[in-house]
Amino acid sequence: MKRSILSLLAICCYIFVSAQSNGLQLKTTEQLVLETKNQALVLQIEENKDVNMAYLGPKLHNKQEYNMLASAYKQADDYTGMYKAAYTASGSRNLLEPAISVIHADGNQSLDLKYVKHQQREIEPNVTQLKVTVKDAVYALEVDLYYQVYAAENVIEQWAVIKHQEKGTIELTKYASANLNIKAESFWLKHYHGDWAMEMQPEETKLTHGIKTIDSKLGTRANLFQPSAFILSFNEPSHEDVGSVLLGGLEWGGNFKLDFELDPQDNLRILAGMNNHASNYVLKANEEFITPKFLYTLSNNGTGEASRNLHNWSRKYKLLDGQGERLTLLNNWEATYFDFNENKLFSLLKDTKKLGVDLFLLDDGWFGNKYPRNGDTSSLGDWEENKEKLPNGLISLIKEASSNDVKFGIWVEPEMVSPKSELYERHPDWVVKQENRPEYYFRSQLVLDLSNPKVQDFVFKTLDDLFIKNPGLAYVKWDCNAVIYNAHSPYLKEQANFYVDYVRGLYKVLERIRGKYPKIPMMLCSGGGGRVDYGSLQYFTEYWPSDNTDPLERIFMQYEYSYFYPAIASSNHVTDWGKQPIKFRVDVAMMGKMGFDIVVSELPEKDLQFCQQAVQNYNQLKDVIWHGDQFRLANPREEDYASILYVNKNKDTGLLFNYLVNYRYNTGTAGPIKLKGLDPNKQYRLEEINLYDQSVSPIDKNQLYSGDFLMKVGFNPQLKASRKSVVLKVTANGV
Ligand code: GLA
Repeated sequence: MKRSILSLLAICCYIFVSAQSNGLQLKTTEQLVLETKNQALVLQIEENKDVNMAYLGPKLHNKQEYNMLASAYKQADDYTGMYKAAYTASGSRNLLEPAISVIHADGNQSLDLKYVKHQQREIEPNVTQLKVTVKDAVYALEVDLYYQVYAAENVIEQWAVIKHQEKGTIELTKYASANLNIKAESFWLKHYHGDWAMEMQPEETKLTHGIKTIDSKLGTRANLFQPSAFILSFNEPSHEDVGSVLLGGLEWGGNFKLDFELDPQDNLRILAGMNNHASNYVLKANEEFITPKFLYTLSNNGTGEASRNLHNWSRKYKLLDGQGERLTLLNNWEATYFDFNENKLFSLLKDTKKLGVDLFLLDDGWFGNKYPRNGDTSSLGDWEENKEKLPNGLISLIKEASSNDVKFGIWVEPEMVSPKSELYERHPDWVVKQENRPEYYFRSQLVLDLSNPKVQDFVFKTLDDLFIKNPGLAYVKWDCNAVIYNAHSPYLKEQANFYVDYVRGLYKVLERIRGKYPKIPMMLCSGGGGRVDYGSLQYFTEYWPSDNTDPLERIFMQYEYSYFYPAIASSNHVTDWGKQPIKFRVDVAMMGKMGFDIVVSELPEKDLQFCQQAVQNYNQLKDVIWHGDQFRLANPREEDYASILYVNKNKDTGLLFNYLVNYRYNTGTAGPIKLKGLDPNKQYRLEEINLYDQSVSPIDKNQLYSGDFLMKVGFNPQLKASRKSVVLKVTANGV
């Protein structure tokens, strides 16, 4: 067993635990200790075979001392003996929010899960998995509880696999992925709400007794009102560099439910999983019900460290091609909307080259013949090139792109169908709707029934055909604009399985696509950021944070997304939203995966030159943004400015972005901003880049500062009304 990475201890030591409801003194018979680099999760198997979560927090130097947890956290009688259950079953002793509830084949609703066995295995260096099997004594139902730990990144994924051998089907009426129990004096929850063009609006609140629920019942585009990503902070509101925090979220692109229950003994229980709303899942005997993964990281040094851990974990283990490269691009959505033809696109391909980006992305409007897609009210589902707009097909555009030395990508929305489409006419039985009720539309469209394997085949084939017919197709923007109304599958026998089986069907399709096209870059879009989560991002290389591309708004949004997702995944496009000059817009887009969605041919000459230079700067420095560490230096919600620093792993190159976000009289950076993540012993130069036209920077690029000075005293980027955005390249002397 490797001590330095993660260890699992089974301590058979019979420690007495006193808190019991029925007067019996139970004994702890065994502890299962999971450790990451800095954190520990301790499960305790009681003598009555209950499995409890005894501890989640900083790891102890001396492993033997986990034995003393029970006496340290001794609390009064809890009436049930199971407030701390590792997976709370309902219908027997439980009095709190359950993790699992069932209706057995005989109609009985009781469940009491007891320890059977556990197994630990190293998946690969740094990644260890613990499986704990619990079982009901009366009914043939068992659950495998999975805990997968990523030691270096302090990340834990938890999920459950439920199965039974009852005579007949059972109904799962609740089926959480994880059930955490945490101790602290108080708990603060930062969560997010939003709407179209208003993604990631944060709110932080102290949790009071009872349950605070973050959930979605939208089916698709599930994050439109709120994502499952959250920040839990212990004892005080969250801070960037101090305090204990837990950053988490569900890896699931559908309905979710996260319950934060401050229990009668002031401990926090988190029940996280798919939403059971309208979803009593009917499970056949011997069928495995696998929940999505609930993901979290803990840090004792605030949200900054926690985010960097998540970024590292995501790039290494989750985000598709997280450690790879990305393509800069020119998109035509805001430049043309639905109004284009081959000639217009040919000239945009030339503009792509002129700008210096890697790829041209053709957005919505290229398909449909019986019903041409000239607006958003028709044609979804009819994925053939519109003959009027593109008489020579996509292949002609791909050839033209290639002769301009750029790549070509395309927009699709393959889960959807317009009522006005040939697909709808051919396959009304593939559409999610209630036969006996009027159709109700979101953006004039309906959702295809992805629980149906035939529909899954159709969606797979839509993409597959595009790739087969158009060799050279280099990029896909996969959109999903509608939520699910009138949830009903013409295919499923068990309607209550629909919400779950929809997402499973979608993931089957994405698995197949990735099986055949493992690395084609795909952007995850959902009318903006309606589906940004790590369940989806395992199939996508990047996401579209929001249709709102006003750079001032984007500073705030990108800042919040950055708590959970690395910059390499954030598609940031320069558009005409907002009144800011081109420099400001480009500087903001540079903080992630840069793209453009502007009419290049109408750019004033100096703006064009600026963009071309900025693309070159970006190409030189993108590796630092994509693969380096991110440090949030100034929060635009707390200061008049935002400041974000990226530093490469060698700590010899950095990129410091600064923006004025409050334009009132005399605002600016009155003093220095402290940098982070540098080597105190190295000497650094700071050079302003992305200078517009002939403007001269007031910053002396030859001055050397030690990392120590920059981190203790800081540096003033001199933001003010006439310098609203300042990008600085930070270079160690000698590099
Ligand atoms: C959604 C996307 C946009 C664009 C349009 C096309 O709104 O978020 O970026 O692709 O669809 O209809």
